[in-house]
Amino acid sequence: MTEIVSLYQRAGGTPFFEALVGRFYAGVAGDPLLRALYPEEDLGPAQRRLTLFLIQYWGGPSTYDKERGHPRLRMRHVPFAIGPAERDRWLLHMRAAIHELAPPPDVANELERYIAMAAGAMRNRE
Ligand code: HEM
Repeated sequence: MTEIVSLYQRAGGTPFFEALVGRFYAGVAGDPLLRALYPEEDLGPAQRRLTLFLIQYWGGPSTYDKERGHPRLRMRHVPFAIGPAERDRWLLHMRAAIHELAPPPDVANELERYIAMAAGAMRNRE
């Protein structure tokens, strides 16, 4: 029988996603264009929400849903002005985080395809 292994498992589980989003948010913290969009002084809660979302999306525990309900990410991003520049900065930091962690190539490729699609979908300004 072929066993289907989630990307969550192939990537190394929760520690991988914590490290990924930790690096990503370090990039956001040092990027004035993006940092200005985040309403809270402390980026910690936003970091946790993205970590839990990605864990759930890729087949890990569904703690995100329990804490936040259905993601409805496009709707949740409407208050933030996300144009091509913001999208590109977001992607730059996420790609850098993936490259730094150097997961197996299949995992890296799937993640990169996904973030390009998802970041494009979050754009809500010309
Ligand atoms: C395209 C550029 C993007 C920008 C500029 C952006 C910016 C933001 C901002 C300002 C917040 C509010 C911070 C907070 O949680 O308090 C947020 C929340 C969030 N973002 Fe993004 N985001 C982008 C793309 C994405 C993408 C592609 C994903 C998923 C793959 C994502 C997932 C999330 C999640 C899960 C939250 C928390 C939602 C909640 O539970 O309230 N974002 N984002």
